[in-house]
Amino acid sequence: MTEIIDGKQVAASVIEKVKAASADLEASTGVKSGLAVIIVGDDPASHAYVGSKGRMAKECGFHSVQHTLPAETPQDELMALVASLNADPAIHGILVQLPLPKHLDSEAVTQAILPEKDVDGLHVVNAGKIATGDLDTGLLSCTPAGSMVLVRSIHGADLSGLNALVIGRSNLFGKPMALLLLAANATVTVAHSRTGDIAALARNADILVAAVGRPQMVKADWVKPGATIIDVGINRIPAPERGEGKTRLVGDVAYDECAAVAGAITPVPGGVGPMTIAMLMANTVIAAHRAAGKAAPKF
Ligand code: GUN
Repeated sequence: MTEIIDGKQVAASVIEKVKAASADLEASTGVKSGLAVIIVGDDPASHAYVGSKGRMAKECGFHSVQHTLPAETPQDELMALVASLNADPAIHGILVQLPLPKHLDSEAVTQAILPEKDVDGLHVVNAGKIATGDLDTGLLSCTPAGSMVLVRSIHGADLSGLNALVIGRSNLFGKPMALLLLAANATVTVAHSRTGDIAALARNADILVAAVGRPQMVKADWVKPGATIIDVGINRIPAPERGEGKTRLVGDVAYDECAAVAGAITPVPGGVGPMTIAMLMANTVIAAHRAAGKAAPKF
C-alpha cells in the first residue's frame, strides 16, 4: 500500500513542539519569541500567505507583528525598516515576503537581515552553513527543512545507500534541499531545465523531489516502484469539471498515476505546504532561544 504522507499532521506535531518550547522559554527567561513579517504591495496570494503566518505565530504564543507597505515603497525605506527590526530585541525572526515589486532589489533586502534573525534561511551565511554541513548553528530554509522532516518520517535520519533526485535548482529550494539530503548521506542528483533525460534519472531515484512549478510534469513511468515522492509544486490549473471558471491546486507530480507506483507520496495540497509555515515557527523559536542564550530545540 502506498503511504500518503500527511503533511498537515506532521506540521501539527511540529507546531505543538514549537508552542511548548516557546512557553518554556518565556517561563524561564521572560523572553517571548518575536516574528516580524514585511509585505510590500497588495498581491492577494502574498497577503493570504502572510495572514496565515501571522495567525500561526499568535497561535504559537509569539509576539507577532506585520508591516504592510505600499507597492511604491522605495528601497531605502524598506532597508530602514529591516535595520530597525534588526536592532529590535523583541524581534527574533524577520521575513520579507517574496516576490517584491519589480523596482525593489530583493537580494539586497534579504542580505540586509541579520543572519541570526533570517528565519527564511536565505542569507548567504545560512546558505553557506548548509553547504559546509553545519546544520546546527544557522537557520535552515523552511521548505527544504520541512521536506526533510517528511523524508525522515519515511526513511529515518540516515539515507545511506539511497539515491535522491531533486528536480529544480533554485536558491530557495532545490539547492538547499540537495545539500540537506547529502548531509543525511543520500546520493544526490540535481536535475533542472537544461538536464537531458530527467525521466531516466528519476527512475533511479529512491527519493524523488519535484520543485519545478510545472503542473503534473512527473509521470508514473518516471517513478521507481516503491520510491518516496516529495511534491513541492503548487500550481493552480483550470478545473471546468467543478464549474465554469473554477480552478484547483495540483503539484508538479501527476498524483493519481504516480501514487499507484510510489511507496510514499505527499499530496497537494496537504503535503509540503503546511510544513513550510511550521518550520518558519520552528526557526523563530530557535532564534529566540539563541538570543536568550539557551540551547535551542531541534525539529
Ligand atoms: N514567497 C513564497 N514563498 C516564500 C518563502 O518561503 N519566503 C518568503 N519570504 N517569501 C515567499
